[in-house]
This record gives sequence, C-alpha cells and structure tokens, in this order.
Amino acid sequence: MYLSVKNLSKTYLKRSGFLNTKTSAIHALQDVSFELEKGKCLAIVGESGSGKSTLAKIIMKLLEPDSGSIHISKQDVLNISKQKIKAYRKKIQMIFQDPFSSLNPKFTITQILAEPLEIHKTGTPNQIKAKVSKFIKLVGLSDEDLKRYPHQFSGGQRQRICIARALIIEPDIIVCDEPVSALDVSIQAQILELLKELQKKLNLTYLFITHDLRVVKYIADEMIVLQNGNLVELGAVNKVFKNPKTKYTQTLINSIPGSI
Ligand SMILES: Nc1ncnc2c1ncn2[C@@H]1O[C@H](COP(=O)(O)OP(=O)(O)OP(=O)(O)O)[C@@H](O)[C@H]1O
Ligand SMILES: [Mg+2]
Repeated sequence: MYLSVKNLSKTYLKRSGFLNTKTSAIHALQDVSFELEKGKCLAIVGESGSGKSTLAKIIMKLLEPDSGSIHISKQDVLNISKQKIKAYRKKIQMIFQDPFSSLNPKFTITQILAEPLEIHKTGTPNQIKAKVSKFIKLVGLSDEDLKRYPHQFSGGQRQRICIARALIIEPDIIVCDEPVSALDVSIQAQILELLKELQKKLNLTYLFITHDLRVVKYIADEMIVLQNGNLVELGAVNKVFKNPKTKYTQTLINSIPGSI
C-alpha cells in the first residue's frame, strides 16, 4: 500500500463569547482511515466544512493532527524529523482551486516552473531549462509561452501552468483541491482531461478533493465521503455509485444533473 491513513483525528478549539471566554470544539476529523495505491486517484468528497482541507493540510504537514498515523510507502509521515521536512514537501505537491492567486505575477513562466527545481536543487541550469521546456509542453502550452507573465494567460491556461509547476519535481502524490471549480464550465472538462491524461502517462497518484460527483465519476478510482469529519463512505467509485451506504451519499448522487 502506498498511502495509508489510520485513525486520523483533529479537533479545532474555537473561542467565542465575551472576552473569548467560551471555547467550543470543532471535530474536523474523527477517526478517519483509508488507503491509496500508487498510480490511482482517490476522491475526497463532502460538503463545505466536512473536513476535506483539514485532511489535505495534515497530509501536507501544514497541520498537526491530534492522533492517528500516516505512511507513504514505508515513511512515517507524522514523525519526520525537522531536517527531512523539506525533502518530504518535494514528495507532495498541491494544485489549488484558484489559478489566479497561486502564481506570482512578477515572475515569467520560466521562473515559475524553474523555482521548485532550484529550491530543491535538482539539476544544472541546462537540465532545469530542459525540464521546464518538457513540462510546459506536457500541459499543452509551448516554449513561446515561457517568456510571458501569468496575467497574459486565461484561467484554464494558468491552471495548466500550476499543473506543470506541481509535476515538475516529480512528486509521489498530487493533492488537487477543487482544481476546476473556479474555471468556466467549458474549460473544466479540458483541465480534467489533461489531469487524467497526465495521470496515465506519468503514473501519477492523486488525492482529489471535490464536491462534484460528476468529477469523481470521471477521474477517480476510489472515493471517500466525509460528513462532519466522519468517514461515511469508502470504496471503488463504481461500487459506491451503485450501492451507496448512506443517505447522504445517495443525496449527493441524486443531485448530479441528468442522473437517474
Ligand atoms: N483554523 C481553524 N480554526 C477553527 N476551525 C477551523 C479551522 N479550519 C477549519 N475549521 C473548521 O473545521 C471544519 C472543517 O473545515 P475544512 O476547511 O477542513 O472543511 P472543507 O471540507 O475543506 O470545506 P470547504 O469545502 O468549504 O473547503 C469546519 O467546521 C471549519 O469551520
Ligand atoms: Mg476546503
């Protein structure tokens, strides 16, 4: 097993009331466990506030859980030493919802794509240049585009650049957090198609956060459904769609336009 998440729990304490004297606990994740194989896509589904981003942040080591464990291959992710965190961050890359705010407007596309390679000191300047050229083409853009700045691209093209930047350091896992929901509907399908094509070509492993079950059906092999921090569904996408365990999942499936 490639990624293994076991019994993960996270509670946020929220202060409120007069002089912040009241504290209430938000159980963002409660005893969540699942596994993912290399080269597969696992969709994380759930409505707003169900704990999807909390889970992603814990896996990225941007947030500490209260309890539980995470392993990638054999590495114990939650107990990685400080010196090894930088190397770990190279293994997991993220593609965000908003391609507008996630690219530095002062950088050319060359600089944007070369930056992660430089940070992680992978290769000589010539090797970096070759890689930048290879990855811009992999996402359907060209060498010509490398001299341009983010504002000179459309939303879909910017998301392609974000995808190239995430893939260029050859991560083990790519976390996609609603990667198409900020894009025009006509562009969403193209970006999903690209992500799927790249997954096949490069044997990528995706954790794919979405609230859109049409997207799940298109791209994911396995899925989990979170509801108020609890894992209420887990399994192969086909099986879950055919035979959802919970009413909640059934409602999500029924809300797909054109579904039976
Ligand atoms: N830093 C924080 N402090 C306190 N509560 C938080 C914090 N971050 C998230 N929460 C709460 O934890 C719960 C889970 O939040 P999370 O962001 O993981 O949900 P989500 O599924 O990603 O939602 P969305 O679809 O809106 O992005 C929510 O109730 C949220 O309000
Ligand atoms: Mg979120």
